[in-house]
Amino acid sequence: MTTLAHYLKTHAVDAAVSDVITTITEVGKTISQLLKKGALADILGEAGNQNVQGEEQKKLDVLANDLLLEALAKNTHCAGVASEELDDATPANADGRLLVLFDPLDGSSNIDINMAVGTIFSILPYQRQGQTSENSDFLQAGQHQLAAGYLLYGTSTVLALTVADDVVMFSLDPDTNDYVLINDNVTIDADTSEYAINSSNYRYWLAPMQQYIDELIAGSDGVRGRDFNTRWVAAMVGDVHRILCRGGLFTYPFDTKYANKAGKLRLMYEANPMSLLIERAGGAATDATNRILDIIPTDIHQRVPVVLGSKNEVDYIKDLHVNHCK
Ligand code: F6P
Ligand code: MN
Repeated sequence: MTTLAHYLKTHAVDAAVSDVITTITEVGKTISQLLKKGALADILGEAGNQNVQGEEQKKLDVLANDLLLEALAKNTHCAGVASEELDDATPANADGRLLVLFDPLDGSSNIDINMAVGTIFSILPYQRQGQTSENSDFLQAGQHQLAAGYLLYGTSTVLALTVADDVVMFSLDPDTNDYVLINDNVTIDADTSEYAINSSNYRYWLAPMQQYIDELIAGSDGVRGRDFNTRWVAAMVGDVHRILCRGGLFTYPFDTKYANKAGKLRLMYEANPMSLLIERAGGAATDATNRILDIIPTDIHQRVPVVLGSKNEVDYIKDLHVNHCK
């Protein structure tokens, strides 16, 4: 049996990165407990305020955010923390070598209905050690992430993590309260017949995405010559987890539903960490034309279209978009 602590120690993971991962995953145990208590912990329902994205905050969003922020601010390696829920990054320990970004509770509309939610995190190097960190320090392309992962609070609590060139998975043992290694080499098949998209936005998509979904729905009667199946968890963390387990395609594409939004998902808290996991497991991640991990952010809360998962399907969508522009 390999615990997370043992894995981090024996895989030559940088000591500071290990320590920050330990801080996040320890808070994850508390969040997992609170979710298990559900209505009994008085954490359901609206907290009465809106987050920076203009969305209603659930009580547990606020709690998860505060718990992570508080724990990371105390971590001596952490020079700054950015959360999807807060306008500005919070400076932490100027001598730290790392910046941490997180989505404290992804898929929060699932909390009240007892469905899967998760915590997504990303760790970047800090370039100005000794000086107080600012928002601009976080604006680094996703390819520079030192580690990334998520905690999925589902029927069990699972941690997916990449700290080297591979992806590993742990399950939180409710008896010992340890994260135990369950997969030491997560890989995604290049082909898939399963896809995830919120089709209610069909009329707002670009023509190539409409064409792609039309082709999948036509199935064996159309140009693809085989049938496809839809799954939509409504929490990115759940859809990405399914893809790491059995392949698939996930997209929240560009749409024209809201002016000034290039997509729904956030580059730094969602797209980047998930893209690193997916690429390292052998999949691909693009905004439909560019590799997500190459995008240089201009704003810590920037949104981006996301297409990720089994490589051949991601490439197929990319080709449709590139050819459409020719
Ligand atoms: O964080 C945004 C998010 O909740 C994702 O986790 C999820 O994939 C998506 O939004 C769900 O969007 P919609 O409510 O449009 O289906
Ligand atoms: Mn989210």
